Amino acid sequence: MSTFNAVHLAKRPTSDIIPGETFEVKVHPTPKETDLKDGQVIFQSNYLSLDPAMRGWLKDARSYVPPVKIGEIMRGAAVGKVVGSKSSKFPVGSYATATCGWAELAVVSDKYVEKVELPSNASIADSLGILGTHMDCRSLCGYLETILRPRFPITSSGDLIKTGLSAPRSRLQPINRTPLFKISDNSHGFALTTQGLTGLTAYFGILDVGQVKAGDFVVVSGAAGATGSVVGQICKIKGARVLGLAGTDDKCAWLINELGFDAALNYKEQNFPKNFRDATKGLIDIFFDNVGGDILDMALGRAKPHSRFVMCGGISQYNAAEAKGPKNYMMIVAMRIRMQGFIVTDYESQFVEARRELAQWMSEGKIKGKLHIVRGGLEKAEQALVDLYKGVNTGKLLVEIKPDADTKSKL
Ligand SMILES: NC(=O)c1ccc[n+]([C@@H]2O[C@H](COP(=O)([O-])OP(=O)(O)OC[C@H]3O[C@@H](n4cnc5c(N)ncnc54)[C@H](OP(=O)(O)O)[C@@H]3O)[C@@H](O)[C@H]2O)c1
Repeated sequence: MSTFNAVHLAKRPTSDIIPGETFEVKVHPTPKETDLKDGQVIFQSNYLSLDPAMRGWLKDARSYVPPVKIGEIMRGAAVGKVVGSKSSKFPVGSYATATCGWAELAVVSDKYVEKVELPSNASIADSLGILGTHMDCRSLCGYLETILRPRFPITSSGDLIKTGLSAPRSRLQPINRTPLFKISDNSHGFALTTQGLTGLTAYFGILDVGQVKAGDFVVVSGAAGATGSVVGQICKIKGARVLGLAGTDDKCAWLINELGFDAALNYKEQNFPKNFRDATKGLIDIFFDNVGGDILDMALGRAKPHSRFVMCGGISQYNAAEAKGPKNYMMIVAMRIRMQGFIVTDYESQFVEARRELAQWMSEGKIKGKLHIVRGGLEKAEQALVDLYKGVNTGKLLVEIKPDADTKSKL
């Protein structure tokens, strides 16, 4: 019998994910095309996106999506190929992204699969990063309902995905509609990065929440990661000055020499607090925060009156048994700071236009991405997720589930 592997949540971690304990690999019979219902496809993952938010999904706590339940396939998005189809939209051989979970194969309704359309200088992994993957609340519901519920003994909570939030009224100007180039079969990589969720997060976070404008001084934490690296490049396009914070000298050099950041500081250096004070003497207009913790406190201490704090994430606290809040929070009052959190899926109705503009910037060479691909199959995903919180990646972290012969040479 032919089989495929999937990674299931075995035990909730209380702090760090423990390889061999938090998740377990299970073997499942390969689905047959003849068993598909109308509108379903069999999706084969090539590259799985690993995201810091995954640690949050393991917590049994109220959030913007329900937690992954014990025994469920771990939630995740991938770019890959349709290998079986009863959908007129996705014939066998189509490249697509889907919220398919940590699995080599998945049966997915075509409502929750998205075609990959990319600029010619992109690869399909970029659909999980800069150019926007499909992991929105709708597809998370779809993932829970169509993949997990019928196939595995769980009570899925897909119907609980009601955040009570309506989409924010965008402050963005209408975007010039440049047509996207069609993906060529050998351009897989970019489907997961610049065009993916992290690219869209950067886009709406800095443009709509941050309201960046020419002359602003912007500080970005987690700057060499998938989201932060795009934030800084959009700031440069808009005429702002950007200081990036990252965990190694090599990452800082990449930000300045390759991506055009004005300056970058290694936050792990002993002199970082002094270097940070020196670099922010003129005070901060926008702080785009991906990490929280001590760095957020330092930024609060250097905020300009009426500055904007874009609260995107707080990775320094995700594995902590008890998260630390900022000590300097009274600066929010004293400096009249506008501090706003956001979830990228709030902007789902504007994804198409945002991707179009990101794709245009990519094709003009104004935005660059980098992929950090962990090879060796699905079994590597657990350790790779642990390593994400240690800063192993520059750019977007992906796990190669199954190399695609057509696209391998580009990655
Ligand atoms: N609000 C939303 O809708 C939304 C959507 C997507 C992502 N996010 C958030 O955006 C942030 C970035 O996500 P991403 O997918 O782009 O990941 P990423 O930045 O590509 O990867 C995470 C990076 O965080 C840094 N890091 C890890 N632990 C840290 C610590 N203790 N202190 C400071 N930096 C640390 C590491 O780089 P260093 O070497 O520099 O430490 C690592 O490479 C995360 O907080 C994520 O939760 C939010």
